Amino acid sequence: MLTVAGMGPASLALMTPMALDAVAQADVLVGGKRHLEQFPDFAGERRALDADIPGLIRWITQRMHQRVVVLASGDPLFYGIGKRLVAEFGIEQVRIIPGISAVQYLCAKTGIDMNDIWLTSSHGRDVDFDALARSPKTAMVTDARCGPREIAAALVARGAGERWLVIGENLAMDNERIHWLPARDVQAQYEMNVVVILNER
Ligand SMILES: C[S@@+](CC[C@H](N)C(=O)[O-])C[C@H]1O[C@@H](n2cnc3c(N)ncnc32)[C@H](O)[C@@H]1O
Repeated sequence: MLTVAGMGPASLALMTPMALDAVAQADVLVGGKRHLEQFPDFAGERRALDADIPGLIRWITQRMHQRVVVLASGDPLFYGIGKRLVAEFGIEQVRIIPGISAVQYLCAKTGIDMNDIWLTSSHGRDVDFDALARSPKTAMVTDARCGPREIAAALVARGAGERWLVIGENLAMDNERIHWLPARDVQAQYEMNVVVILNER
């Protein structure tokens, strides 16, 4: 049985009891280094999640008779590993336990409602910056290649330098920082972050 458990943005306090229970019952735990480190007492088999997803799928296939739990950051089906695992194994064979996305967490911290928000990503993909410049309210997961600075520069280039970027950096961690800046003032590099883009503050 394969379970994909949403971890929330970082802290175990933001994982659901159902996800914690799945880990407690697991024979096999798969996850990124940061996520596996949260379970130092886990006694079963472990595997680090890396870029070799086909290798991971072969490895999980050999263990489907065991209780395999894959830890996914935030929500597994929001730009996460859940999509690929459901596509590969079918939803009949995969239990998805939802988690709190980093975007939801940032909205909760800032009081930004999620109504009519466009949820998208620059993480490992090309962004349609023209659509972004037209969208009144957007939330994005990002990566080091295309983060707040690159997004802001693309908005400025399209005459949207007055838009506000709300940058949530290292959310739910000890070094969490939340910045509100107009696009024209976003110059710095940020650590792991999500961004909400608004027409006005
Ligand atoms: C592969 S995506 C996964 C998104 C995740 N499924 C979710 O629901 O939040 C990874 C990206 O999520 C964002 N992210 C995840 N955890 C975060 C955190 N604690 N603080 C800020 N951003 C985070 C970053 O943009 C990171 O590059």
